Amino acid sequence: MWIFDSQHEFLVALFDSLSKQVRSGKLTGVNEDLSKFRSFVNQHFETEEHHMQQMDYKFYDEHKAQHDRFLQDISAIQPEQLNNEIIADWAAWWLCHLPFNDRPDRFNLKSVNWPD
Ligand SMILES: [Fe+2]
Ligand SMILES: [Fe+2]
Repeated sequence: MWIFDSQHEFLVALFDSLSKQVRSGKLTGVNEDLSKFRSFVNQHFETEEHHMQQMDYKFYDEHKAQHDRFLQDISAIQPEQLNNEIIADWAAWWLCHLPFNDRPDRFNLKSVNWPD
């Protein structure tokens, strides 16, 4: 099993819970889930980045830039500003990042050049 699978599953579960809180409109729940989500995303990105550095991953800078942008987005938002549209944008980010950028075979790349 890919070492980050369980972290990704946990992140998806946290995100799912946060989306439900946003839909229900309960600010206390949103507040709590947003803070859990931020903290675990931060922790997960740090672990992943450390692993990529250990592997001497070729696309580390690009990957880290994607993480940093997402972290900025989720840190800048106040719980009362969260709405379904923002949640949909964040979901789109995960749907692109997880299956395409967080693939185990990519993390092992050191010298492969992608075709133009
Ligand atoms: Fe990840
Ligand atoms: Fe990642």
